Amino acid sequence: MSLKQELIDGLNEDLNLELEAVLRYLYHSATATSLLGHELRELLKSDITGELNHAVFLADKIVALGGEVKIHPSMPKKVKSAKEMLEVNAAAEHQVVASYTERIKQAEEFGDKGLVIRLEDILAEETDHAEELERLSR
Ligand SMILES: [Fe+2]
Ligand SMILES: [Fe+2]
Repeated sequence: MSLKQELIDGLNEDLNLELEAVLRYLYHSATATSLLGHELRELLKSDITGELNHAVFLADKIVALGGEVKIHPSMPKKVKSAKEMLEVNAAAEHQVVASYTERIKQAEEFGDKGLVIRLEDILAEETDHAEELERLSR
């Protein structure tokens, strides 16, 4: 497979992780209870638009590269408590940080410096998300 196709496939994975974040944040922010849940609600609600913007950027970039946009996000799972929500979201943010780290390497190998810069910006935002969630769990 070409470097370009590998990059497109990776961007499609990222796109679906972003869509999953939008769905999960919407679900969690609407259903969270307790004092911790209240804090989580405020945090997640404010991040929905940001994650959606990441998805929009990725979908446009896939098309710009001549790729096919493949939308198949998993639905959010039921959670029992705000504590569980916190853990699920912290793990997911760490997962996207790892994915973007890999994608940045691929974009560098492919030679798309503009994409590298955009992905670095997104990665920095995801790192902020992970840290904000971790702060709530201490
Ligand atoms: Fe995101
Ligand atoms: Fe995030």
